[in-house]
Amino acid sequence: MLIGKVALITGASRGIGRAIALKFASLGADVAVVYGGTRASALEVAGIARQYGVRAEVFQCDVSDFASAGKTVAAVREALGTIDILVNNAGITKDGLVVGMREEAFDSVLDVNLKGAFNMIRHTSPIFIRKRAGRIINIASVVGLIGNAGQANYAASKAGLIGLTKSVARELAPRGVCCNAIAPGFIETDMTRHLGENNALLQSIPLGRTGRPEEVAELAAFLAQDAAAYITGEVIRIDGGLGM
Ligand code: NAI
Repeated sequence: MLIGKVALITGASRGIGRAIALKFASLGADVAVVYGGTRASALEVAGIARQYGVRAEVFQCDVSDFASAGKTVAAVREALGTIDILVNNAGITKDGLVVGMREEAFDSVLDVNLKGAFNMIRHTSPIFIRKRAGRIINIASVVGLIGNAGQANYAASKAGLIGLTKSVARELAPRGVCCNAIAPGFIETDMTRHLGENNALLQSIPLGRTGRPEEVAELAAFLAQDAAAYITGEVIRIDGGLGM
């Protein structure tokens, strides 16, 4: 259970982040629904979360902006008292072959997926260090482990996120803070909708199907709970076997 814990989840207005926010709320956590885009969707997630009897508030934040991340962490703390769990889930893709990739496509994906996680960790870690407790869960990707043609920027950002995870895990372990990464494969969300019924892709998944956001949320919930207190610096694939 997560009763009495406060969880901040970025990109929580839809997809995997939404599923994580709702799963955490169902386990009794108060949730900070941090969103980049649509306030209405974030409010809807918070409304559903409250039905579990927890506190849920929405916060607009561009995670790639250091100052915005700092203001958001301060606002969450003000509204919900503290932060116990940080989930860096916000992410974007700007796919294309490296030979024709625009500089902006590389920079913006790195800025959101990698620097965004750094920004949030940078601003929450003093809270965790003071409490001598805390959990950081970074949503990476199997692509960060095995690469993917057409996603050099995205794969680099996710591989970087895995390096960030392990370094932060080492730095904060003496302070009782755990930091882990989840590496999902092909999960059905808005991000992957355009891939449609791509059978070649499905055939490359040993379990022969795509994953659901709720399945990723189960894993995040496990890593957030007391049962996972001895796990840090780990990268757990949830990909139907795609990356093995
Ligand atoms: P999504 O596109 O449905 O959701 C991403 C969320 O991040 C959105 O709510 C968006 O508003 C938010 N966001 C984007 N830029 C932001 C910014 N600058 N500041 C704050 N929020 C921002 O995508 P999905 O599929 O739910 O992905 C969630 C995470 O899971 C991402 O990090 C993605 O890379 C990762 N992932 C997804 C996989 C999939 O198959 N769907 C596979 C592996 C990893």
